[in-house]
Amino acid sequence: MKPDLQGRRILITGGAGFIGGNLAHLSLQNGAERVVVYDSLTYAACPETLASIEKSDSFHFVQADVADEESFHRCLQVEKPHRVFHLAAESHVDRSLDNFTPFLHTNIHGTRSVLDATRAWVNKDAPEDFLFLHSSTDEVFGMLSKEGSFSESTPPNPRNPYSATKAAADVLVETWAHAFGIPTIISHSGNNFGPFQFPEKLIPLMIQKALRNEPLPVFGDGSQVRDWIHVHDHVRALCALAEQGKPGSRYCISSEDEHTNLDVVQTVLSCVEKSHSEIEFVTDRPGHDFRYASSNKKICEETNWSPLYTNFRKAIQETVEWYLSNPTWCRAAETQSNYHGERLGLAGYREQSEE
Ligand code: NAD
Ligand code: TYD
Repeated sequence: MKPDLQGRRILITGGAGFIGGNLAHLSLQNGAERVVVYDSLTYAACPETLASIEKSDSFHFVQADVADEESFHRCLQVEKPHRVFHLAAESHVDRSLDNFTPFLHTNIHGTRSVLDATRAWVNKDAPEDFLFLHSSTDEVFGMLSKEGSFSESTPPNPRNPYSATKAAADVLVETWAHAFGIPTIISHSGNNFGPFQFPEKLIPLMIQKALRNEPLPVFGDGSQVRDWIHVHDHVRALCALAEQGKPGSRYCISSEDEHTNLDVVQTVLSCVEKSHSEIEFVTDRPGHDFRYASSNKKICEETNWSPLYTNFRKAIQETVEWYLSNPTWCRAAETQSNYHGERLGLAGYREQSEE
């Protein structure tokens, strides 16, 4: 069987970010004819992520905003992709608690803009089996208590500003698909980790702080549960859906690998051989969702995908080694973003508690 995306022209929005960057690498490895990354390069982007592929004749980078409908439409007309993977987003919950404006701009207005550009193009110039894949999150489903899991039929119930914008984007995608005949797939992934993740998210932040001998801030009591997936498994799932998924469907992408935040932080500490006393329990995140978990039954049944990273400790160890072996990337991510590991997400909280 030929690798997924072999011979395809693909367009990835947000491809200078964590998941989109890993997807660009895998698509080229799988023999895609052309991989175009469309990204405005926000603080979360790291152009170094694409350094090893940017000289490939099959690769092209466009620096532009997804909310620029004309520019996105032009890109579609020129590149004629078989697949659009829409990953560009503001992706950090804590930042959405501090300042909602960029989330509204990119996740909602930006998604509306790429959908309208696609709508104007899809019935004229698009390849016959064109597909638009939208990357959503398990967070749109709300939160779970200790039992049960989300599935594709779980109704949306977002509970933080980030997930509210992602749920809104999902509604736009399904509405535009229905009203204008755009073939779409929506995927809902759990929490990712692995190479090229910007160190504001839990795992890379803890790795960097542990390596710098700084305290590791665990929000609340660390009992919250997330469903973790290695980014290589996630991007393999996206490629599988691009070839084997049913247009008009939603799929949960999950390794069904749940861990409490405290367990994750202790695993990072043991991988860097530091003592658990480095952990600092800090003020909880406002509105902190207790647990996310999704079933992977549908994607495993309908495609040939299944997760390969099934040993969490080993996967974290490999991730620690990746950060240790890539100091240039780490420095570039920090310098370009001007983010140095400060606590985020308490701006509104502090104001309220001072009233
Ligand atoms: P990221 O924050 O690492 O990267 C986002 C990328 O989008 C950056 O390169 C940024 O420059 C780009 N971008 C932001 N605004 C843009 C705009 N207006 N125009 C063009 N480009 C813009 O995000 P990620 O972790 O790679 O997540 C990718 C997608 O997957 C997002 O849609 C996110 O909601 C979704 N997702 C992420 C996770 C996770 O654990 N990281 C889990 C589930 C779903
Ligand atoms: P995060 O990586 O921000 O992803 P998300 O909010 O999308 O799940 O956080 C993962 C979990 O880790 C979440 O429950 C919040 C918690 N967390 C901490 O305890 N300390 C931290 O410094 C960060 C960034 C997150």
